[in-house]
Amino acid sequence: MSQEEVDDKIKQASEAQKSWSATEVYKRADILHEWADRLVEKQDQIGEVISKEVGKNLASAIKEVVRTADLIRYTAEEGCRIHGEMLKGDSSRGGSSSKLAMVEQEPLGVVLAISPFNYPVNLAASKIAPALISGNAVVFKPASQGALSGQLMIEALLETDLPTDIIQFVSGKGSEIGDFLVTHPSIDMITFTGSTETGQAISQKAKMVPVVLELGGKDPAIVLEDADLDLAAEHIVSGAYSYSGQRCTAIKRVLVADTIANDLTEKIKQKVEALSVGSPEDNATVTPLINNDAADFVQHLIDDALNKGAELITGNRREGNLVYPTLLDQVNSNMDVAWEEPFGPVLPIIRINEEEDFVSLANQSEYGLQASIFTKDVQKAREIATKLDVGSVQLNAKTERGPDHFPFIGAKNSGLGSQGIRRSIESMTRDKLFILNL
Ligand code: G3H
Repeated sequence: MSQEEVDDKIKQASEAQKSWSATEVYKRADILHEWADRLVEKQDQIGEVISKEVGKNLASAIKEVVRTADLIRYTAEEGCRIHGEMLKGDSSRGGSSSKLAMVEQEPLGVVLAISPFNYPVNLAASKIAPALISGNAVVFKPASQGALSGQLMIEALLETDLPTDIIQFVSGKGSEIGDFLVTHPSIDMITFTGSTETGQAISQKAKMVPVVLELGGKDPAIVLEDADLDLAAEHIVSGAYSYSGQRCTAIKRVLVADTIANDLTEKIKQKVEALSVGSPEDNATVTPLINNDAADFVQHLIDDALNKGAELITGNRREGNLVYPTLLDQVNSNMDVAWEEPFGPVLPIIRINEEEDFVSLANQSEYGLQASIFTKDVQKAREIATKLDVGSVQLNAKTERGPDHFPFIGAKNSGLGSQGIRRSIESMTRDKLFILNL
């Protein structure tokens, strides 16, 4: 699309939003439920397109569609529970009980939703549904890879009774329409998931417009001496390698007590070597990365680490943009793979000798999305968790965003604001007061 076409779409959304925000919430909820029904009906068709478009294995792609329908239904219900509040003036010294404030949640107007390639349906709907239920119009810009899946999802929405123009699908090159969208005067809120670099650029350009960002991560799995190593290995492998590590919440480094590192590494190795590698159609866990540049970057991280003395435990094989799951031991702070987000199937193991290094190394990262702690000592886990600069800490489980109604937060360069169904709705509304002076 050209800037002129995008401009038209934004104007149409802005115009249509006025009557949409006056539509009863239960009617908006009914439309979202209808949308969820359509998605469930079309799960195979949309799942297949996701799988072909972004190389996600077919079973996971179909699961993404069903998860999205569940998310939309919960959002519809949650939207009906936004009731506002009533405040009395006499709670502040000098105030009066005859002053009463009705606080309502008003939509912001037109929400710009920009989604990434890795969840082209779920991470799009997790922005669109909260915006719609709270009375906003939406301009939806999918990632170029993922746009076909996004378009199918929007077609399903347009089969409902949603009034025309409330949802606008825009596509085009970020270099041509990106800044135009982000700085358009009729955009009232921006919600973005993608790279930290783009997220930072958006937050700098969006003047006086609220921005919610979900960006990169370098989530550590912290494995203490008393951990259940079978459990830890199982979660680490599934956390690090599912969808070939192309998840912001993937486990991207292991910080393990040196005394148990050999045992853990062996257990992880066995599981990594059992992973299926190949084609999305065959439901392989590790499939080709989104493009060759992504595979080149992962290969660079592997090569850099090996050149600097890391030990290759398994992997380091490549066919085009298919990178075989790779496990590196003896990784240290001088290696890029200790700090960079690979967004691919390579996992570094960093051995820890001093207990305080678990926290200091975890926190040295520019990212602060999530962390996992594996231990039987809940008290100790809690103590470590309070010191970690991250949005969420998982005890004895892999890092992950879901369930979708949990708040989802990134600290430092991992994000801005909070998502999760309730928080997303709140981020797309503002308080509006009607004050009764009796
Ligand atoms: O890639 C970022 C997603 O928010 C990760 O979601 O933890 O459900 O895979 P997930």
